[in-house]
Amino acid sequence: MAEEAILGFLEKKEEISDSGQFAAECGIDHNEIVNVIKSLHGFRLVDAQNDDMNMDIKRERWVLTDEGRLYTAAGSPEVQLFLAIPPEGISREELQRRVDPSVYKIGCSQAIKNKWVEMGRQLVSRKVQNVEDRIKDLLIQIQNGEVVGHDDIDTLKRRKLIAQQTWKGYSLRKGPNYTPKRKKAATDLTRDHLQRGDWKDLEFKEYNFSAKGQPAEGTEAITNDLSSNGVRYDLYCFEEMPTNNFVESSFWNFDVLFQPQQHPARDSHDTFFLQVPSTTKKLPEDYVERVKAVHEFGGYGSKGYGYDWKREEANKNLLRTHTTAVSSRMLYLLAQKPFTPKKYFSIDRVFRNEAVDRTHLAEFHQIEGLVCDRGLTLGDLIGVLHDFFSRLGMSKLRFKPAYNPYTEPSMEIFSYHEGFKKWVEIGNSGMFRPEMLLPMGLPEDVRVIAWGLSLERPTMILYGIDNIRDLFGHKVDLGLIKRNPICRLGIE
Ligand code: PHE
Repeated sequence: MAEEAILGFLEKKEEISDSGQFAAECGIDHNEIVNVIKSLHGFRLVDAQNDDMNMDIKRERWVLTDEGRLYTAAGSPEVQLFLAIPPEGISREELQRRVDPSVYKIGCSQAIKNKWVEMGRQLVSRKVQNVEDRIKDLLIQIQNGEVVGHDDIDTLKRRKLIAQQTWKGYSLRKGPNYTPKRKKAATDLTRDHLQRGDWKDLEFKEYNFSAKGQPAEGTEAITNDLSSNGVRYDLYCFEEMPTNNFVESSFWNFDVLFQPQQHPARDSHDTFFLQVPSTTKKLPEDYVERVKAVHEFGGYGSKGYGYDWKREEANKNLLRTHTTAVSSRMLYLLAQKPFTPKKYFSIDRVFRNEAVDRTHLAEFHQIEGLVCDRGLTLGDLIGVLHDFFSRLGMSKLRFKPAYNPYTEPSMEIFSYHEGFKKWVEIGNSGMFRPEMLLPMGLPEDVRVIAWGLSLERPTMILYGIDNIRDLFGHKVDLGLIKRNPICRLGIE
């Protein structure tokens, strides 16, 4: 209504000179008018001005405080108190019982000041027959926007029954995008639009790519866990790594992790490669040279793999197969500056070209954590993992030696499942190899302990879900999503 009124008025007249007057004339609340003005101004349908120097449009006015508003209905405390005193008088105790404590306190002092009552030793009695509730009348006048004298204003102000409010109004003219009627941009294309055929005339609201998304609640338990100070090696919190790139080059996903180019994981049976754009444009060239060298003939005490490393292979774009690709980028960045210890974590999507079954999906989420400091040991890794998993309710852990091209030693992590009465694999971990860290430029005594696990697997174990498709993907029962608290992982 307010919008139509404003746009309609401007169709006929040059200007609305005072939004306050305009609101009063239209009988619309001024706050509503102001909200509409802001929106119309934002879309440049109108040009609104609020010139602070323009005293006409900025007014100070008095409004009632909560207490003031109370008395417009119940009467001032002094009158309430007066009315509670019967003509024959009343004991203080009895009077106190009849009125609220605050009414008694304020009422007594004001009524004595007004010489309305006498507080005798035995009895409280009336000194006059009738009283007028001036305070209440004044408050009602102010509420109605009537003018009230200075002295009265002072009294009410001192008693905190009114407060000053700065009232701001606007003057407006047509803006460059003015139309007499604004078309509301559609945000959704609905079945009705399709059936009625009016989708053809719809104007869609543009995407706001910089809008902040809803915080991802599902990952909250694990995020809180990692960010809390509880982890033993935690002198300060874990920082979240930027994982907002699903497309990665083979270089960061595999090569820098000392994963040889013939490794089966780099086959299209295991990895989704991109067709467009099929290759990456930019890699740090001097670092590429060092990575190539370490693959081909080693260095830093390593023999390397002794094969012909190909740049084309490293350039190939893919959907990242693990978030360790992000860890490697972060460590490389860290190595470009004087060394400071770091603790990083991430929780995000990864992709694998796998046959889908009860426990595997082609896309899922990984939780990744790493601690980077001088002189860390395998003992530190085991300790961190114990702390981490026990906070997810998994305190019985076992570690099994394993192999990853980028960690040495490597350990698979198993947790004892009380329900299944067996040990189940819940993650993978290790200490990053010197073949990975030294070409980056990290100091020689810096060690990086790291671990990775799927988000879905411990969730399935904790919630007794036996088919991953019930947890994630297009087959998920929406009822489950609605009913279940998705972050109940912290079982402590
Ligand atoms: N990237 C490994 C995986 O995808 C997990 C891992 C992370 C292992 C870090 C060791 C160190 O399974």
